[in-house]
Amino acid sequence: MVKPLKEGELVHLIDKKGKRYQILLKAGSSFSFSRGTILHDDLIGVVEGSVISARFGERLMVIRPTLAEYIAKMRKGSQIIYPKDIAAILMLADIFPGATVLEAGIGSGALTMALLRAVGKAGKVISYERRTDFLEIARSNIETFFGTVERAGREGSGALIVKERDVYDGIEERELDRILLDLPEPWMVLKHVEESLSSGGILLCYNPTVLQIYKLSRRLELKYERSFRVMGIYEIGMRGWEIKGRSMRPEHRMIAHTGFILVARKCSPTA
Ligand SMILES: C[S@@+](CC[C@H](N)C(=O)[O-])C[C@H]1O[C@@H](n2cnc3c(N)ncnc32)[C@H](O)[C@@H]1O
Repeated sequence: MVKPLKEGELVHLIDKKGKRYQILLKAGSSFSFSRGTILHDDLIGVVEGSVISARFGERLMVIRPTLAEYIAKMRKGSQIIYPKDIAAILMLADIFPGATVLEAGIGSGALTMALLRAVGKAGKVISYERRTDFLEIARSNIETFFGTVERAGREGSGALIVKERDVYDGIEERELDRILLDLPEPWMVLKHVEESLSSGGILLCYNPTVLQIYKLSRRLELKYERSFRVMGIYEIGMRGWEIKGRSMRPEHRMIAHTGFILVARKCSPTA
């Protein structure tokens, strides 16, 4: 479906070397960079993918950023989960359309946005966060991408409920389909997860260090072995390649380690 770019939309301009510039389209405004100037009016009304000539400069391609591209450029308060891990998390936690998902904490909102899309119109994402400053950054990132926080804006996304709460103090909701924890001490939440996650539901924890994952898995094994079954612990690697003429090789730089993902399922002993 052809949807021309409108005023108020966020776009990326990409030069021939792949450098990106992010702008919010506003009639009458202009964008200047070291190699030229582009009028926003020349972008409003064209289709994404168009290649526009900058005045006195080079040609730039204009696109609506993908969620991963947006995440790379958005404002960060906390450390975020990288798109390579988010992609795996959506599959490992089996986030499905219509699901009710609880996450803590919201951080900068990177995972939240991917969850909102994956749960779809019939789904719901509940985000607990204890820091007001991070909440505000996440809200602003989500609003810029989707339009509004309340409806998460774009057609097809789930509803978002944000709670300024410490998840270590408890989870108010019950019968949740999925719980995703990206915080330093996930073992402190297990007793609440035990009460709030549906039987068969999935708990996914994301932590950067092996000591955290070790402590979490030991706690699950020793204290919660009747309530949870660990399904797997993963680390995701992704390496880009460069192809230039006859040279084909992996890129010199890569994001090597980010975090570990632990997946467990809630079980209900019958006797
Ligand atoms: C690493 S960040 C989360 C990043 C987020 N997943 C993203 O992709 O942008 C961890 C967040 O958890 C929050 N947090 C830590 N402990 C918490 C708790 N007990 N209750 C609620 N939020 C908590 C922190 O304030 C921080 O914002």
